[in-house]
Amino acid sequence: MWFTLTLSAGLSTSVALASFSPVSETSNVFDRLGNLSPYHRAPPIPGLKTTLPGDCSVDQVMLMQRHGSRWPLASELPFIQNLTYKLGNASDVIQKARLPPNMAFLKDGYVTELGHDNLTAPGRKELFTHGVNFLLEYPHLHTDTILAGAQDRVIESAQWFGLAYFGRYFHNTSAINFTTIPEDSNTVSWITPMDTCALWDYDYGNNATVTWGTVYLPPITKRLNKLLPDVGLTDYDTHGALYACAYDLAAYGVSPWCDVFTSKEIEDFEYELDLLMNGAFGYGLPGEMGPLLGSLYVNKLVGRFTNATGDASPLYLEFGHDTTIDMVLTALGLAKDRVPLPVKGPINPSREWRTSSQVPFAAKMVWERFTCSKSFEGPQIRLLLNDVTYPLSTCSKTRKDESYGTCSLGAFVSVNNFSTSIQWGDATWNATCGPATL
Ligand SMILES: *[C@@H]1O[C@H](CO)[C@@H](O)[C@H](O)[C@H]1NC(C)=O
Ligand SMILES: *[C@@H]1O[C@H](CO)[C@@H](O)[C@H](O)[C@H]1NC(C)=O
Ligand SMILES: *[C@@H]1O[C@H](CO)[C@@H](O)[C@H](O)[C@H]1NC(C)=O
Ligand SMILES: *[C@@H]1O[C@H](CO)[C@@H](O)[C@H](O)[C@H]1NC(C)=O
Ligand SMILES: *[C@@H]1O[C@H](CO)[C@@H](O)[C@H](O)[C@H]1NC(C)=O
Ligand SMILES: *[C@@H]1O[C@H](CO)[C@@H](O)[C@H](O)[C@H]1NC(C)=O
Ligand SMILES: *[C@@H]1O[C@H](CO)[C@@H](O)[C@H](O)[C@H]1NC(C)=O
Ligand SMILES: *[C@@H]1O[C@H](CO)[C@@H](O)[C@H](O)[C@H]1NC(C)=O
Ligand SMILES: *[C@@H]1O[C@H](CO)[C@@H](O)[C@H](O)[C@H]1NC(C)=O
Repeated sequence: MWFTLTLSAGLSTSVALASFSPVSETSNVFDRLGNLSPYHRAPPIPGLKTTLPGDCSVDQVMLMQRHGSRWPLASELPFIQNLTYKLGNASDVIQKARLPPNMAFLKDGYVTELGHDNLTAPGRKELFTHGVNFLLEYPHLHTDTILAGAQDRVIESAQWFGLAYFGRYFHNTSAINFTTIPEDSNTVSWITPMDTCALWDYDYGNNATVTWGTVYLPPITKRLNKLLPDVGLTDYDTHGALYACAYDLAAYGVSPWCDVFTSKEIEDFEYELDLLMNGAFGYGLPGEMGPLLGSLYVNKLVGRFTNATGDASPLYLEFGHDTTIDMVLTALGLAKDRVPLPVKGPINPSREWRTSSQVPFAAKMVWERFTCSKSFEGPQIRLLLNDVTYPLSTCSKTRKDESYGTCSLGAFVSVNNFSTSIQWGDATWNATCGPATL
């Protein structure tokens, strides 16, 4: 089994491969796998204050928590499996090949036992840790409710978080309201708003990645085929090897495949993941569809933070997806690139849209409403995305707003008038999504 092998990290590369630098030697691949990265803090934004002034206190919080690390999706697993079959059938050739140290693991055979779709053990750990940290961060705020999208990995994520947060009896005590909301086309949900938008199509993102794949995969395939002549790897297999890196990490915390790629190749894969999320759940959607979908959640933010109905809870614990978070950022006009991401490259290395820092596994979008006795006047809003302040550039007005990345609740509400002008199934919704039916 592959995990008993010695990995190549630390071994020196041969002279013939002098120009090759495995990714692990140049950077931390964990942080560079887009929405398939294990949980990690987002890179802090230089100059931004991360702690609120001492006279401020947080009086309301909304958490939108992505599920933790999972197995590959059922649609992704065959890429990895087909690669292993091809390698398995070519084992004689591989035994004879002169392989660089970072690919020597192939001589011992690489098989995969990855499952699909559900949470992995590291994913459980991410959520348990988040539950502990969240309780310690906001000990003064309470709720009796957890809301989770009704998909196995999301529900299980909410359970591990709940165990850490409420303790082991929380499933059984009637004091805790553990509710799931269906993820289907019959249920209007701010966790999965695209499911009730008839004209929404995953292919808006998927087609972008297919196009980018024809640009970036062939050179990698060519490089690998030089090292593994007569195995006959295709671009699908190369894609499988990239997935193997990401999903071995998600399942076991380590993968021999990550070392096979250069930094540049991992960057190209990361860009594929950015294109997918941007195209299907972000600014790449046609017309106003991206902001429209995210408006369902933004309206919850506004409604709860303004306590419009008078029954707002001080704390909301909600569990969903990377897609949920990306649609919210899009409705808010955050992480927006002036020039749309080009599907044939070149990659803009300073692009705003970065799924590696926005939506890794177990990503947490934490919204705070706070008030201060003198630093700020009236209720203020702050966003912490993956443990780092995310500046609310669209509504910050004062020097102080800018240095804390915050804005007043009033400015937040007025800048989001596109969202607050929309309701599911109204004329604007129908114009973008087609007739609203459940
Ligand atoms: C995997 O191989 C099967 C059988 O050859 C093929 O039908 C399928 O399209 C392949 N899938 C991928 C993702 O390469
Ligand atoms: C050889 O390829 C076939 C068909 O893809 C696959 O079912 C089989 O498991 C492979 N053999 C090995 C040893 O991987
Ligand atoms: C996920 O786990 C649940 C509960 O064990 C199980 O019923 C379901 O079949 C699993 N799904 C997959 C795809 O393994
Ligand atoms: C909790 O509830 C489950 C099912 O409702 C039951 O099987 C289990 O024994 C209960 N556990 C405790 C500690 O009461
Ligand atoms: C439990 O929470 C859900 C979601 O917030 C809510 O709709 C439902 O009314 C709550 N049930 C009870 C019994 O409080
Ligand atoms: C995706 O590409 C396919 C094949 O080229 C095309 O038929 C389809 O219309 C495209 N879908 C979208 C949403 O762009
Ligand atoms: C919302 O308003 C009600 C009625 O004034 C109040 O009791 C409650 O504490 C408020 N909730 C929040 C989170 O401010
Ligand atoms: C939102 O407010 C701006 C500035 O006041 C205004 O130009 C715009 O028409 C408003 N949009 C909607 C949808 O109400
Ligand atoms: C949106 O579409 C639905 C389904 O056709 C329809 O019932 C509803 O009235 C439409 N909304 C508006 C404002 O036209």
